[in-house]
Amino acid sequence: MDWDALYSSAFERVRGNIGKIGGVLLAYNTNIDAIKYLDPADLEGRIERAGKDAVLRYSEELPERITSVEHLLGGILWSIRRGKAAELFVESCTVRFYMRRWGWDELRMGGQVGIMANLLGGVYNVPVIAHVPQLSSLQAELFKEGPIYVPKVEGGDLKLVHPKEFLADEENCIHYIYEFPRGFRILGFEAPRENRFIGAADDYNPNLYIRPEFTEHFGEIAKKAELGIISGLQTLTKENYREPFEEMVRHLDVLNARNVPVHLEFAFTADETVRMALIDVLGRFHSVGLNEVELASIMEVMGEKGLAGRLLASDPVDPVAVTEAMLRLAERTGVRRIHFHTYGYYLALTDYHGEFVRDALLFAALAAAAKAKLGDVRSVDDVVEAMDVPVNEKAGAVEERLKAEYGMKDGIAEVDNYQLSFVPTKIVARPKSTVGIGDTISSSAFVGEFALRP
Ligand code: AMP
Ligand code: GLC
Repeated sequence: MDWDALYSSAFERVRGNIGKIGGVLLAYNTNIDAIKYLDPADLEGRIERAGKDAVLRYSEELPERITSVEHLLGGILWSIRRGKAAELFVESCTVRFYMRRWGWDELRMGGQVGIMANLLGGVYNVPVIAHVPQLSSLQAELFKEGPIYVPKVEGGDLKLVHPKEFLADEENCIHYIYEFPRGFRILGFEAPRENRFIGAADDYNPNLYIRPEFTEHFGEIAKKAELGIISGLQTLTKENYREPFEEMVRHLDVLNARNVPVHLEFAFTADETVRMALIDVLGRFHSVGLNEVELASIMEVMGEKGLAGRLLASDPVDPVAVTEAMLRLAERTGVRRIHFHTYGYYLALTDYHGEFVRDALLFAALAAAAKAKLGDVRSVDDVVEAMDVPVNEKAGAVEERLKAEYGMKDGIAEVDNYQLSFVPTKIVARPKSTVGIGDTISSSAFVGEFALRP
C-alpha cells in the first residue's frame, strides 16, 4: 500500500470539492491564547520563589482550580512530568495578574470554535458562523479574513458580520498556554513528550456562556448551516452544566429537524456527571471526535474499566482496543461516526461505507502536520507542504494488527456492519506548538468527508 499516493490523491480531491460546502455553524468556545514557550531556568526560579514543596505536591495531584501561584506552577509541572495536556480555570485575580506579568511569546486565536473558524473560513474558504462569547477588539483582530461571520442583532434584526465589523469592545477571555518540548528538563524531571498546560483566565467559556443572539435567534441562524460543530462543553461541572446543556439540546433539536449533521468535539471532560450527560446526548450528534484519553474516560463511566485500561496501556494505542471501545460507544449511543485520533494514526467507525471516510482522514492528517510544523496554517499551500513530512513508522505495526484482526485492506475493513477506516499519520518531529492540532484534525476530517461524499 502506497500511503503517499493515497495522501496526495485525497488532498487533491478535497481541495477540488471543498468549495461545495455551504455553511458550517461553530459553537460555543472562542478565546485568546497567550502562548508562552517555557524556559527551564525561569520556571525553576519561579518554583523556588513560590515554595518548591507546595508546587511539587500539586504536580503529584492537580488542584481542581487555580487559586494560588503554587497551583499554577504545580499544574505546569504536572503536565511536564507526564507529557500530558491539562487545563484549569484560574479563579484568583492575583494569579491572573501574575500570569499577565510573566507574559507571552505569541497571541493566537484560541478555543475550538475560534481555531476551526480560522481554518475552515480563513484557509479553506468555507463559510462559517461562529459563536464568540466575548468579542473584544483583540479577539476580533485574531480572526482571519474570509467568510467568517458572527450574528449581530440591530433593531431586532439579525445580521451576519465579520467579527472585525462587530465593533463591540467586550471583555478579553485569555487562556495562558505554557508549552514545553519533549525532553524539557526541570528539577530532575524530563518531559516524555511535547505538550502544554493551560490556565484559563476567563469567566465566560468555562461556564459555556451562550450569547443572547444565539438564544433568541437560533432558528434563523440554523437556516444558514449545512453542517455544525459543537465544542467547549469540557470545562462544565455538575454544578453549572444543566442550563447550557438544555440550551445546547434545544439547538441540536433545531439542527436535527433541518437534517444538519453535527459533530461533537469531545475534549477531556474531568467531571464525571458531565461526561455521563454527554454520553446521554451523543445520539443527537452525527459524529464525535476524541483521543485515547478521552475515549478511555468514556469507557470508565460506561463501566468498561478493562477496556479503559487497555486504551492507556501501550504506545501506540492498541487499535483493537480502540475499535472495541468505539463499537461499544456507537451501540450505546447511536452516534453514526466516531473519529479517533492518537499520536501516529487515526481510526473512524461509521455506520455508512465508502473510501471518502478514509480520504477525509488523510486530508486531516496533512492539515495536522502543517499545523504542528508551522503553528498556524496560513493557506492551503501550507497544507501541501506537509506532504514531505514522513508517515509515522510505528503505524506499520498498527496496520498489520488491523489486517490480522479485521482483514483490513487499503485502510478499510468491515466490522459488525460498520466500516472501520484507518490512516497512518504524518508526525512532525519538532512541532512548533501542540495547541489546536486536535481541532485541526477533527474539523478537517468532518468537513472534508462532506466535501468528498458522492
Ligand atoms: P489532542 O490529543 O486532542 O490534543 O490532539 C492532539 C493530536 O494531534 C494527537 O492525537 C495527534 O494525532 C496529533 N499530533 C500531536 N503531535 C503531533 C505532531 N508532532 N505531528 C503531527 N500530529 C501531531
Ligand atoms: C481549549 C482551550 C483553548 C485552546 C483549545 C485548543 O479550548 O481552552 O485555549 O485554544 O483548547 O484546542
